[in-house]
Amino acid sequence: MEDSIEVILQDRGGVLPTSRPHPVLSACTGALLTGLYGVWSLFVIPGFRKVPWKLKVPYLPSSKDQTLNTMKLLEGRTGRLADLGSGDGRLVFAASSAGFQCTGFEINSILVAYARSKACWTGVPSSQASFVTQDFWKTDLSSYNNVTAFLSPGVMGVLGEKLLQELPDDACVIACRFPFPNWPQQSSAGSGLDETFAYDMSTVRSHLRNVPNTAQK
Ligand SMILES: C[S@@+](CC[C@H](N)C(=O)[O-])C[C@H]1O[C@@H](n2cnc3c(N)ncnc32)[C@H](O)[C@@H]1O
Repeated sequence: MEDSIEVILQDRGGVLPTSRPHPVLSACTGALLTGLYGVWSLFVIPGFRKVPWKLKVPYLPSSKDQTLNTMKLLEGRTGRLADLGSGDGRLVFAASSAGFQCTGFEINSILVAYARSKACWTGVPSSQASFVTQDFWKTDLSSYNNVTAFLSPGVMGVLGEKLLQELPDDACVIACRFPFPNWPQQSSAGSGLDETFAYDMSTVRSHLRNVPNTAQK
């Protein structure tokens, strides 16, 4: 009777070849690359240097599930959409294929160039998806009735104040992963790191009017 593959391998004194990366080496390489990217992005990217330290947000692409959850919360809505910190444009592309007229605001010109070329080679017209190298903190968002933001927990309070000042009452804001402090959620989708939260601006405003001393930060 022929030996099974396990028996043959055992006889040879070996096991199936496995390439196990050294965990410490992998962690060190990852930390080094992240650190180099961090230094590069914080100090080298024009524009990013000018963003106050407490408002700096690094690039971290959203997951497929996070994007799907965002799109789920935008179901039934139409119009103009601003993605604040659009990265490689993945959210903008998803929203534009759902019919929104999207603008991705991104401070990292390399990511903007990548997103623009992706739009070009996938044939997405600029009327549906455009990308601008622009600091969204210095951008008037009043013409947008949909806003998406995957940023960091530390900036959500300040962002909330900006959006309260600028967005129309019928606007919908989707916060990815990090909710707004003290804003009542309309709905949410997903869970854990992929969770996204929807807010209706008129509901947020009337809630905050009734709780006048609620701190935004
Ligand atoms: C967490 S990433 C999210 C990227 C993308 N929206 C996604 O979902 O994959 C945040 C992005 O915001 C950009 N960013 C940070 N501060 C910005 C600012 N003030 N103006 C424009 N973009 C900014 C970063 O460069 C980064 O690409």
